[in-house]
Amino acid sequence: MSAFSRFTPLIQSLPSTIPFVGPEAIERQRGRAIAARIGANESGFGPAESVLQAMREAAATTWRYADPENHDLKQALATQLGVSADNIAIGEGIDGLLGQIVRLVIEPGMPVVTSLGAYPTFNYHVVGHGGRLVTVPYLGDREDLEGLLAAVKKENAPLVYFANPDNPMGSWWNAERIVEFAKALPETTLFILDEAYCETAPGQALPAIDTLIDMPNVLRTRTFSKAYGLAGSRVGYVIATPGTAQAFDKIRNHFGMNRIGVAAAIAALGDQDYLATVTARIGQSRERIAEIARQNGLLPLISATNFVAIDCGRDAVHARAIVDTLMSDHGIFIRMPGVAPLNRCIRVSTGPEAEMELLEAALPKVLAKLSGR
Ligand SMILES: Cc1ncc(COP(=O)(O)O)c(C=O)c1O
Repeated sequence: MSAFSRFTPLIQSLPSTIPFVGPEAIERQRGRAIAARIGANESGFGPAESVLQAMREAAATTWRYADPENHDLKQALATQLGVSADNIAIGEGIDGLLGQIVRLVIEPGMPVVTSLGAYPTFNYHVVGHGGRLVTVPYLGDREDLEGLLAAVKKENAPLVYFANPDNPMGSWWNAERIVEFAKALPETTLFILDEAYCETAPGQALPAIDTLIDMPNVLRTRTFSKAYGLAGSRVGYVIATPGTAQAFDKIRNHFGMNRIGVAAAIAALGDQDYLATVTARIGQSRERIAEIARQNGLLPLISATNFVAIDCGRDAVHARAIVDTLMSDHGIFIRMPGVAPLNRCIRVSTGPEAEMELLEAALPKVLAKLSGR
């Protein structure tokens, strides 16, 4: 295929990738709708009715650009978190913010430290800006904090990333360990603490906001995509020092936010009763997934997120066969980690009981088929 000849050398060197094959692409390939969408860690429980109402109202003014300063959302977040609005930067989901953070810090060839098999969209942005990934294997299905720190020091890396709680394993470290890690870093290393799953995590996994808020080299990223049920609205935010948060104003897409999505996020913050209800449902669904796994002789890992990683007891080929057969025979969409030894697992997102029933019925049939029974 011919393409324009003067793309930058970096762009020319990049593979044309989409980090995730989306469920829509799978539906197009299959020519059939997916029966259970429990693979992308969205919230099948959806947003609150109050949020849907706010979105309907905002739809009438969608001809207007969103406020480029995102004033009202920043204020609402600041009030909820007990910080100043200057401590917040808003972006198009954590994914969008990760791209901006990498751009703020990384020039071609610079080392970036993360865990081997951690969130792939971060790696995608690093590679896209010419950074050099330095990966540290998980230890016991958790981020190896000492290994990550040692790699940062050895490489004099300007950027380190991990998620707590973690995707794809659902594991987590307690707040003290996270704070200890942040304080042990050189001041010249920016630490992205991705807290996409903070709403479903136990309290002790989340450092109190004031413990990290004065550190210019720490960014905490959060999102409305998970427990708030707004993945399609693309609203995420960063918590940082005012100086660090302001750096986003140099590069962000000022009209990048979706006006209806921002209205949804503000309404979602205002409906904490719904959040409490939905996080309880996510907790029950995690238990339900774990039970289904155990019924089938598989080992569910303890999770602080809106998904459960299930150790299928064998290798990646076996886990892949389960993922593929759930889809081909039953239209059930799940995913699995990308690298060993994590890829002995499959990963199932929490969701409403109807989806769980489909999984409960399908999984034994899939395992029986794969074992030739
Ligand atoms: C660790 C982690 N960070 C970020 C995201 C994406 O968040 P957003 O929808 O805000 O881009 C995900 C979604 O799966 C995730 O698992």
